Amino acid sequence: MGIGGDVTHLAAVRGDLRRRTGETVMSGFSPEWLALRESHDLRARNPVVLGAVADRFRSRDSLNVVDLACGAGSTVRAIGPHLQARQHWDLVDNDPHLLALACGGNDDSDVRLNAVSLDLGGNFEAVLDSTKHLVTTSALLDLVSETWLDRLVRHIASRALPFYAALTYDGRTDFFPSDPLDEIIISAVNAHQRTDKGFGPALGPSAAAAAISRFEAAGYSVIQGRSDWQIGTADHEMQRALLSGWAQAAREIEALPHRDIDDWLARRNENVDLSASTMRVGHVDFFAVPMTIR
Ligand SMILES: C[S@@+](CC[C@H](N)C(=O)[O-])C[C@H]1O[C@@H](n2cnc3c(N)ncnc32)[C@H](O)[C@@H]1O
Repeated sequence: MGIGGDVTHLAAVRGDLRRRTGETVMSGFSPEWLALRESHDLRARNPVVLGAVADRFRSRDSLNVVDLACGAGSTVRAIGPHLQARQHWDLVDNDPHLLALACGGNDDSDVRLNAVSLDLGGNFEAVLDSTKHLVTTSALLDLVSETWLDRLVRHIASRALPFYAALTYDGRTDFFPSDPLDEIIISAVNAHQRTDKGFGPALGPSAAAAAISRFEAAGYSVIQGRSDWQIGTADHEMQRALLSGWAQAAREIEALPHRDIDDWLARRNENVDLSASTMRVGHVDFFAVPMTIR
C-alpha cells in the first residue's frame, strides 16, 4: 500500500500526485516514498508469518527466490537476514530505476541479486520458472485485479511454489484524534483503491482475503497475520505524505466538496505539526504453502 492506493498507488499510476518535501519529490512508487515507508513496513511485518517463512527453509543450504514488484528491494532487506541459506533472488519490477536501486549496494556474497525488468501486467509466468523454492511480494496485491490474482494463484499453484505476500492494505485506517470527516475520507480512499492501478479494476482492501481463499482452494495451507503500520506522533513526514495522498484520492472520487477535503487536510496536518496525531493503517501478511512441495 502507498499514499492513496499503494496508499500512494493513485499517484504511481497517474503521476498526478507529487508532493514536495524540501527537495524530495514524494510520489506513488518514487524511491523517496518507498524509502519513507520501508522502516514502517519493517516494523509492521508480522513476525509469526515471517518466522514461518524462515522455518520452512531452515534446513536448506541454498535458496532461489523470485520477488514480484520488488521496488527498491525492501523485501530482500526484510527477509534475507532471516534466511540462513545462500540466496539467489530474481527481483522483478517494470521500473528500471527502482531495479537499479534494488540490486545496487549489495556486498553480501551469500545473497545474489538479479534484476528482471518485466511488466507484470503482461505475461509474467515464465519468471516463476526461475525458482523452485519461494515467490515473494509486498505491497502489490491490493493493486491487482481479480483476474490477475486468479492467474497468479494458478501459475504459482501449478508449480507447487510457496508464496509470501506482505503488507497488503486491508481497508482499516484509524486516526487519533478523530475528525468528523475521517470516515468519509477513508471510504473514498478505499473506493479509489478499487480503481484500475494497471492490472484492471483493483481488489484494493479485499485483496488479501481474496488471495488467501484462492490459495486455500488450490490446496495450500496459509498462515496469516496483521501487519499494521503504527504511525507515531513523531512520524511527521510519513503522516503528511499519507494525508496528502488520501486527500487527493478523496478529491478524485468526488467524495465531498473540495473545500471540505482541504479543511480536513489542514486540520489533520495541524495535529501532525503539534505532534498530537497518530495513525494505524491496516495490512495483512500471509505465507501460503502447498501441501506437496517440490
Ligand atoms: C508499492 S510498491 C512496492 C514495492 C516493494 N515491493 C516494497 O514493498 O517496497 C509497488 C511496486 O510495484 C511495481 N509495479 C507496479 N506495476 C507494475 C507492473 N505492471 N509490472 C511490474 N511492476 C509493477 C512498482 O514499480 C513498485 O515498485
